[in-house]
Amino acid sequence: MNRILVTGGLGQIGSSLVTHLRKQYGQDNVIIGDIREPENPEEVEPYTRLDVTQRENIDKIIGEYDIDTIYHLAAILSARGEQNPQLAFKVNILGLYNILESGREHSLERIMVPSSIAAFGPETPKDNTPNDTILRPRTIYGISKVTGELLGLYYWEKYGLDVRGVRYPGIISWNAPPGGGTTDYAVEIFYYALRRDKYICFLKEDTVLPMMYMPDAIKAITMLAEAPAEKLRHRTDFNVQAMSFAPRDLVNEIRKYVDFQVEYRPDYRQKIAESWPRSLDDTPAREEWNWKPDYDLPAMVKDMLENLGKKLGVEL
Ligand SMILES: NC(=O)c1ccc[n+]([C@@H]2O[C@H](COP(=O)([O-])OP(=O)(O)OC[C@H]3O[C@@H](n4cnc5c(N)ncnc54)[C@H](O)[C@@H]3O)[C@@H](O)[C@H]2O)c1
Repeated sequence: MNRILVTGGLGQIGSSLVTHLRKQYGQDNVIIGDIREPENPEEVEPYTRLDVTQRENIDKIIGEYDIDTIYHLAAILSARGEQNPQLAFKVNILGLYNILESGREHSLERIMVPSSIAAFGPETPKDNTPNDTILRPRTIYGISKVTGELLGLYYWEKYGLDVRGVRYPGIISWNAPPGGGTTDYAVEIFYYALRRDKYICFLKEDTVLPMMYMPDAIKAITMLAEAPAEKLRHRTDFNVQAMSFAPRDLVNEIRKYVDFQVEYRPDYRQKIAESWPRSLDDTPAREEWNWKPDYDLPAMVKDMLENLGKKLGVEL
């Protein structure tokens, strides 16, 4: 592995992943491709504008930069997807198809494609959700994630293209804002808490969802990328559990450090959240590539407040 393209590399996960990969493989060997223009271009070089819905864009970048590995993170997330299902279909399904086809034609070494807990649906068992279970999501985002898992598996079995992925829960981070998902509240709330502003939460106080702190999200995808192929019985659909909590649990934990007000006003995102699991059984990830998270709720909250506080210039 030496020349990596990160599609959606300016996004919430992409920006942390790129920093990590550049430390490991060298700045010039990790190329950011994103439809967005960077705010500070000199800080993100090498960057190239990429629209994954345009197949020729992808082929050109693979050729120009001699890419052998893609982390495909370009996507429209759950809440934004429900506001524009046509765009979500184009980017998440046609975009992924383009990536897989380019990967097949250029015989790439590996393609990492994150799935999501959104792949599950209302009929899925909600607690300790098994890895291999009912996948009948009702959001366009979830449908695109199930399609991605199955297409990735198909390209592996039919063409030997090494596609792998974890099902991420809600990801919490301080360095880049989230991109329009149903778990965004768990990031936004820290900004309000640190500024001692009142936060209006768009989920009910007792809605439990699986969540993960960014360092663990990077650990999961890079561990899976490096796992010996012969150990893998799953490929594109690994559950990864780190912590599960409801908004009120998070509020109580943050209030150990700062006092702030919260009001609960659930909106359309409540229905999406209620169709997802509360916790995941991640036995295959633990057995096949030794997955283990480092952060639970208290450790995550402490680290978030310290780092976001520093970034915003706010004293705890
Ligand atoms: N963040 C989470 O909580 C979470 C949870 C589960 C799964 N995931 C998955 O992880 C991956 C990354 O998510 P994220 O949170 O970083 O998302 P994000 O919205 O923060 O970033 C996505 C990036 O993709 C870019 N993009 C959108 N359309 C594009 C196009 N046509 N061509 C190229 N780039 C395009 C956006 O500009 C953005 O920078 C996605 O596959 C997402 O489904 C994220």
